[in-house]
Amino acid sequence: MTSEANPGFPSELPMIGEEPPAEGLVLNSTIETQLAHRTFRSFTDEPVAEDVMATLLDVARHTATSGFYQQCTILRIKDPQIRHRIYLSSGQPYVGTPQGELLMFVVDLSRAARVREDAEVDLEPLGRTANYQQGVDDVLLAAQNVVVAAESLGLGTCLLGSIRTDPEDLIDAMKLPKYTFPLLGMLIGHPNQDPQMRPRLPREITTAVDTYPDFESDQYKQAWADYDQVIQEYYDLREGGKRQDTYTSQLIRKPGNPASEKADMLGALRAQGLCTH
Ligand SMILES: Cc1cc2nc3c(=O)[nH]c(=O)nc-3n(C[C@H](O)[C@H](O)[C@H](O)COP(=O)(O)O)c2cc1C
Repeated sequence: MTSEANPGFPSELPMIGEEPPAEGLVLNSTIETQLAHRTFRSFTDEPVAEDVMATLLDVARHTATSGFYQQCTILRIKDPQIRHRIYLSSGQPYVGTPQGELLMFVVDLSRAARVREDAEVDLEPLGRTANYQQGVDDVLLAAQNVVVAAESLGLGTCLLGSIRTDPEDLIDAMKLPKYTFPLLGMLIGHPNQDPQMRPRLPREITTAVDTYPDFESDQYKQAWADYDQVIQEYYDLREGGKRQDTYTSQLIRKPGNPASEKADMLGALRAQGLCTH
């Protein structure tokens, strides 16, 4: 059964090892969309309609923006050669195929730089890490707004942090000026797969009142152990019992190993005039 507000998505939201998230929650079509989130990595050949793309780009434009600086620029990648270079930087096979729209979300302090240069005002503040962070805030919020809007229309999305493996090449490929940085990619398309929802850490671990949750409490330890079990079940079901894996083991094994986590991010940012101090 699919939801009226969300064609293509289940109206009941099963989660492995947990009560359905609908229990005790206030639901409307927006929240149902958000609770049904899944990343899609395979898309059909059907193009995303132009009016849908225009809508998604406008949703991004209307997102809240830190300091009213509006420091997000989105490039819609249509040139296969540029897409190929982004694919090479990301290493993700689904970026290398023509299916799905590819958007690149750029942190953009270059507009401010131009205005300040014309006004013969110091550019020093634009090199501050705090100012870059405001651009990051804008990009991430705009991207998530696009995800929610796309999913509400029955489309699937895949955010792409992996593009940051070779920032210098992306900067060259997309002709990004100084004071900009390619932070995030996103594929959007008509889903060609039906992935399971990935269970999330429970509220006892990811939320607390007033002070940080107590790692040592029995409740915390139990919630952690239960979650590892839930994730093991998720992989059992997804990969027919072939994958022995828990959340804990991923945190031990993964950080630092993906290529995008090995890039000299600070060097690349500083070459763009960002995060110099
Ligand atoms: C900032 C960010 C960057 C991501 N980058 C990638 C990526 O490069 N490639 C990819 O396949 N998925 C990427 N993802 C998707 C995550 O892998 C996915 O959200 C996570 O595994 C949870 O799965 P779900 O979205 O289906 O719930 C990214 C997600 C976020 C939030």
